[in-house]
Amino acid sequence: MTASASEGPAAPLLTLRRIAELREAVAGWRRAGESVGIVPTMGALHEGHLALVRRARDHCDRVVTTIFVNPIQFNRPDDLSAYPRDEARDAAKLAALSVDLLFAPPVEEVYPEGYQTRVSVPGLSDCLCGAVRPGHMEGVATVVAKLLLQSLPDRAYFGEKDYQQLLVVRRMVRDLDIPVRIEAVATVREADGLALSSRNLLLTSAQRTQAPALFRVLQALAARLEGGAVPAQDVLEQGRAELAAAGFEPIDYLELRGAESLEPLDRAERPARLFVAAWLGAVRLIDNLEIANSGASRHPPA
Ligand code: PAF
Repeated sequence: MTASASEGPAAPLLTLRRIAELREAVAGWRRAGESVGIVPTMGALHEGHLALVRRARDHCDRVVTTIFVNPIQFNRPDDLSAYPRDEARDAAKLAALSVDLLFAPPVEEVYPEGYQTRVSVPGLSDCLCGAVRPGHMEGVATVVAKLLLQSLPDRAYFGEKDYQQLLVVRRMVRDLDIPVRIEAVATVREADGLALSSRNLLLTSAQRTQAPALFRVLQALAARLEGGAVPAQDVLEQGRAELAAAGFEPIDYLELRGAESLEPLDRAERPARLFVAAWLGAVRLIDNLEIANSGASRHPPA
C-alpha cells in the first residue's frame, strides 16, 4: 500500500474500504513519526468540509477523510435514502487537496451482522437535535468512537455548524480516554449567510432564496441578547414569528443555551449560543451563533 503526501491535484487518491487496511496505513505513518489528522464526513462534500480538510492539512503530516453515511444516526428512513451521495465527485475534491487516504467502508464493514454496541453521552445529547431526532446523537457518538478507534489519529476535525455534535464528541473522547485531540473549525457560510450543508443541495431554488433568513434572524436575535440585559423568552418568541413569516415550518427549536454544557439560559449572562433547527418544505436546516459579550470563547472548551 502506498500513499503520496505531495501537494497538488494530480496525485491519485488512495481509497480503502476495510478497517484492517485503514489501521495498517495509519499505524505505518505513525510508526514513521508522521502525525495523522482525520476528517469524518458523510460525503456530499462542500467548502465547509474542505475547510476541515485544509485545517487538518495545515496541522498534520497525513490527512485521512472518511465518507460513511451512518445509518444509525438517521431516525427517518426517508432522510437516510434522500441523503446526497457522490463518491467520485467527493474523491476528486479530496485529491485536489492532497488528502492521503479516503476511508469509505460499506455499511457491513462498520456494522457487521450481530453488531450491538452503542455509545451514548446523556445530558449533552438530550436537548436540541438529540431531543428532536431520537437516537441521532447516540448514532453519531457510536460511529465517531468507532472511526477514531479504527484509525487512532492524532487529531480529528469537526465543524461548529454541528455544535452539539462537537460537544458530544469532545465529551465522549474525554470520557472514554480516546487519545485524540478534537479540533473545532468555524462554520463556513455562503455570501448571503447560509451555513454550508450537504442538505442545501436538496433545496428548491425558491427555498434557496428563503434559506438565508435563518442566519439573518439568528444575527438579529444575537444582537438583542448581547450583554445579557434582555430576557430571552420574548426575543425568542419574536424570532420564531420571524422564521415562520420567512417560510420556516415547523421550527424544531430556537433556543438560547450555555456554550459549554448546553443548559437552557434565560439571559446571555455567561458563554451562550443561539441554536436553531427549522424546516423549509422537506429540508431541515440547522444553525447556531455565539452571543457576543456573553463571555463565550471563540471555540468550545477543549
Ligand atoms: O457531521 C457529520 O457529517 C456526521 O455526523 C459524522 C460526524 C461524520 C458522523 O457520521
